Amino acid sequence: MRTLLKANDTCWCGSGKKFKRCHKPSTDPVRPGRITPMRTVPDSIVKPTWADGNEIERWDEPRVKSADVIERMRRTGREAADTLAALGQLCQPGVTTEEIDAACHEMAIQRNAYPSPLGYSSPDNPFPKSLCTSVNEVICHGIPDDRALIDGDIINLDVTLFKEGVHGDTNCTFFVGQVDELSERLVRVTRECLEKGIEAARPGQPVNEIGRAIQTHAELNDMAVVRDFVGHGIGEQFHTDLQICHYYHPRLTDIIEPGMTFTIEPMIAVGTWRARMWNDGWTAVTADGGRTAQFEHTLLITDDGAEILTTPSDTSIHPYWSLA
Ligand code: MF3
Ligand code: CO
Ligand code: CO
Repeated sequence: MRTLLKANDTCWCGSGKKFKRCHKPSTDPVRPGRITPMRTVPDSIVKPTWADGNEIERWDEPRVKSADVIERMRRTGREAADTLAALGQLCQPGVTTEEIDAACHEMAIQRNAYPSPLGYSSPDNPFPKSLCTSVNEVICHGIPDDRALIDGDIINLDVTLFKEGVHGDTNCTFFVGQVDELSERLVRVTRECLEKGIEAARPGQPVNEIGRAIQTHAELNDMAVVRDFVGHGIGEQFHTDLQICHYYHPRLTDIIEPGMTFTIEPMIAVGTWRARMWNDGWTAVTADGGRTAQFEHTLLITDDGAEILTTPSDTSIHPYWSLA
């Protein structure tokens, strides 16, 4: 049992710092921080079209992938997942999201991969970092900055790698130290929502069955599904035209077919599903400041269900990563 500390008491952890400067949980809203200049990727790494300040290129990509693309997506998916799992270990009090970004960038290069978010998607307002880091009420697309993680935060790390000409996209919400009960329930329910979505991803079914399964589970638990961001087709392009809503959308009736590859990435909120965007044009937060969590896998539709392409080699790293 931890003794009840006041803000100016010495922290329980032995750092010698004041509690408020060390392990005191934050109820303050997340604010925009300082963002360092964009990092570079060596020319020896094959880059997507938007790298180095270029325009994103789009083309018609078959929804059903060739055996060759699928093989490459299996390998890149696993590399993205292993990177995400390693970065999860850094989610400790005192670590800045900038430090997590630096590690992600290094790990991607070590793997001969390009970190897909870097420079995405337009020269006007390129995403300036190598992964998205979304803390507490940040729904998604948080930009790594100088904010240090605080005991009690929840943080989503969203890693996408580009290697062998294909993308692998996966994210996970991690606890920073001890989190409150509601946050713990939010993260568990969100993980379950992803599992329900994956179970509904079966050939012959319309894609809106995925959203129906997710929404049902979220609402049974008095939580809300964020509507402004959706899962997506993925392959040689980061995002294709195929949309996977995480709530029931009657008009999304595309039939799921073996060989399709797409992500499911539900964002679940304890309060409202309504979102607001920061002036940076990227960071999405809940309108009421309530916390939100997310999990994402890249999937391949098989003859009787879905194969997860973004399972890490070591699934013991996160308690909610039980799905293999
Ligand atoms: N990884 C995100 C997704 O799941 C997309 C991030 S785009 C970025 O689709 F530019 F913000 F990095
Ligand atoms: Co995605
Ligand atoms: Co992602």
